[in-house]
Amino acid sequence: MFEFIKEEVPVFSQSRDSIWLDPHIAQQMLMAHLDIKGDGATRNLAFVEASLQWLKKKFPVKQFTKVLDLGCGPGIYSQRLAEAGYQVTGIDFSANSIAYAQKKAAEKNLLIDYQVGNYLQTNFSKENYQLVLLIYCDFGVLAPESRKKLLKQVYESLADGGQFIFDVFTSEKYQNFVPTKTWSIEEDNFWTVESCLHLEANKRYPDKQTYLAQHYLLYPDHHKEFFIWESVFNQQQIKAALSEAGFSQIEIYSDIRGEKLKQHSETMCFVAKK
Ligand SMILES: C[S@@+](CC[C@H](N)C(=O)[O-])C[C@H]1O[C@@H](n2cnc3c(N)ncnc32)[C@H](O)[C@@H]1O
Repeated sequence: MFEFIKEEVPVFSQSRDSIWLDPHIAQQMLMAHLDIKGDGATRNLAFVEASLQWLKKKFPVKQFTKVLDLGCGPGIYSQRLAEAGYQVTGIDFSANSIAYAQKKAAEKNLLIDYQVGNYLQTNFSKENYQLVLLIYCDFGVLAPESRKKLLKQVYESLADGGQFIFDVFTSEKYQNFVPTKTWSIEEDNFWTVESCLHLEANKRYPDKQTYLAQHYLLYPDHHKEFFIWESVFNQQQIKAALSEAGFSQIEIYSDIRGEKLKQHSETMCFVAKK
């Protein structure tokens, strides 16, 4: 394990465990989603409300009724869009988050089609959505071939004139990045209930666009490993990927609240029309 943390992990190789699916951490993630002040798993509520205001104005419900929310988590956006009259499908591979989303929808008498599934393995291409959303920079956690596959499928899933809206991090996010290797003892916190030794390495890859946060949790009789990958992008790279998938008309904003694109923005939001 100690040797392993020294090695360069092949880029975008998948760890055995996932922070979204590990039973304890998934529960912590759900709490992070629901924390209205934090930006842990969903952005803070003020940001979410501003995003929704922009989305509803730019994509009026009458014209853009049918919405697909990819990686919808516990339905923070899906629920509010359904309340505004949109017909929403939400896909997420966290059964924990989807169970919460379904409970909330039932309480509020909302008809939302929530599905537990990996959006990279789910066939949603024939649905004729008017809007497809991928919110909170999830595009960058995907391996290059998965990004390509997802863009193609999103394009096929859109009705003519339909729009794909997603955000990505730029290199600004990692401007002050320093590689680190640390260890700590963890107990009864975000990572674990039982006490364990936590090894963590944060690495930047030679392309200077790919980052890995590598975590090992060592217990007396087993261990868990989590690789958290992230790529940052510039405008040209995303535009090229969108054109390759078939999108022609592309707008760029600073973030998913529709803020005007600023030079040193940490995020960019793309609106791509079929
Ligand atoms: C950063 S969170 C954003 C959640 C939501 N879009 C929001 O802003 O509130 C990413 C979500 O994507 C889900 N996710 C990540 N990869 C996925 C995949 N391949 N298939 C389905 N869901 C995925 C995670 O479970 C998590 O709920």
